[in-house]
Amino acid sequence: MRSQSRRTFLKQAAIGAAVLAYPSATILGANDRVRIGMIGVGDRGNDLLDQVRKVSRVELVAMADVYSRRRDQAKSKVPSIQTFSDYRQLLDMKDIDGVIVASPLHIHSRHFLDTLAAGKDLYAEKTMTWSIPEADKCLAAAKDSNRVVQIGLQHESTGALTDAKQWIKEGWVGKVTHVESWMSRNTPHGKGQWVRPVPSDCTAQNVDWSAFLNGRPDRPFDGFKLINWRLFWEFSGGNCAENMVHQIAWIMTALDLPLPSAAYMSGGVFSEKDGREVPDTIAVTLDFPKDIVVTWQSTFSNKHYDLGDRILGSDGTLEHHFEEPLEYWPEKTNRPNGESTKGKAPNQDHMKNWIDCMRTRGTPNAPAEIGYRSAIAVHMANLSYKKKQRITLEEARAITPEW
Ligand SMILES: NC(=O)c1ccc[n+]([C@@H]2O[C@H](COP(=O)([O-])OP(=O)(O)OC[C@H]3O[C@@H](n4cnc5c(N)ncnc54)[C@H](O)[C@@H]3O)[C@@H](O)[C@H]2O)c1
Repeated sequence: MRSQSRRTFLKQAAIGAAVLAYPSATILGANDRVRIGMIGVGDRGNDLLDQVRKVSRVELVAMADVYSRRRDQAKSKVPSIQTFSDYRQLLDMKDIDGVIVASPLHIHSRHFLDTLAAGKDLYAEKTMTWSIPEADKCLAAAKDSNRVVQIGLQHESTGALTDAKQWIKEGWVGKVTHVESWMSRNTPHGKGQWVRPVPSDCTAQNVDWSAFLNGRPDRPFDGFKLINWRLFWEFSGGNCAENMVHQIAWIMTALDLPLPSAAYMSGGVFSEKDGREVPDTIAVTLDFPKDIVVTWQSTFSNKHYDLGDRILGSDGTLEHHFEEPLEYWPEKTNRPNGESTKGKAPNQDHMKNWIDCMRTRGTPNAPAEIGYRSAIAVHMANLSYKKKQRITLEEARAITPEW
C-alpha cells in the first residue's frame, strides 16, 4: 500500500480518529514506510536524525536548514535526502507524513503551526514555544488538527515516570506538599556553558540570516548569535527552557499538576560573564493550586549533584535521576511497614513512540498538552526573573512578550 492508496488511508485514518475509535496499526502494509522531513538540523537535529533512522520502516526524505553547512552534513549522512534552505518547500512536499522540528526556540511556533497547517504529524523539540501567546496558539492548533504531536520531552517516556504514576496512584507517597528538583553542570575556567565556536563557513553568503531572525529587529549578519542563540533572550528561554522544562513536565505528569498559580525566580549571570544575557545560576519556586510548591535550582559552576527530582510525600519519597530507575523510601511515621524499592518499568524510545502513534493515530507520551503546561511554567519563571518579582499566572498572561 504505497503512495496514493496509503496516503488516502492515512487521511481517512485521521478523519476516522476524530469521530470513531483509532484504526489498528496492522491495517498498514508490513513494508509501508513512514516518510519524514526535518526542519533545523543542527546539534539536536543531528541526534534526532540518527534516532529516527534507527526506527524500522521509516524513510528520511527531506530536510530544511538556513545554513548550508547543515544541509551538506545531512547529505553526507543520507545521500538521497532532499535539502532546502526554505522550510516551506519541504512542507509543500505532499508525500511527507511527519516533520521533526529542531530549530532555535524563537522559531518553534512558526514551524509548529505551519507543519500542522500543511497536514503533517509533528515531533517538535522542547520548549514548545518562546512565549505564552505562542503556546496558546500552538495548543489550540494541535487540538484542532487531529495530527499526532510529540514534544521532545523525552523524560515523559521514562520507566521512572510509569513507576511514579503507579506508586502515587497506589498511595505509597501520601500527601505531597513539596517537590525539589535540580540540575547542575560545570565547565573549565574561562569557558562558559553552551558557548560554541563559530565555523569559518558561517557567513552571510551561507546563511539565510533574515529567516533565522524570524521577525526580530534586522541587523547585519552575526555568526556568533546564529550559533550561540541560547545565550540571548530574543532567541532563547535560558536554562529554564533548555532544562527545567524536562523536569517540570515530568513532575507535572507524575502528580497530574495543572498550570502553576505563581512563580518566582532569582539568580543571575554569575559563573562566566561572557556577554550572555540568560542567567547561569537559578532558583525557581513554582506554586501550584493543589497546595504544592515545586522548586528547581541550577548552576553551571558545579556538577556534583547532576540532575534529579525528589517528590516528598507524607507517606514516602520518590527520587528520580534521569535514565535511572525510580527509587522509593517509605516514611516510617505513616507507613511503618512500608519497604524501600527500585522501579522496574522500562524506558521507551521517545522517537519510536511518535512513529508508532503515527501508524495507530494514538496519543504519544508527550503530547502538545504537556508541552503547553511545561512551557507556561518556563515562561512564568523567566518573566518573574526579568521583572524581579513574584508573578501570578494572570499577571504573566497580561504581559506582552518583548525581545
Ligand atoms: N530534547 C533534548 O534533550 C534537547 C537537547 C538539545 C537541544 N534541544 C532543543 O533542540 C532545539 C535546537 O537546539 P540545537 O542545540 O540543535 O540548536 P542548533 O543551533 O545547533 O540547531 C538549530 C538549527 O536550526 C537552523 N535554523 C535556524 N533558523 C532556521 C530557520 N528559520 N529554518 C530552518 N532552520 C533554521 C540552524 O541553522 C541550526 O542548524 C532547541 O529548541 C533546543 O532546546 C533539545
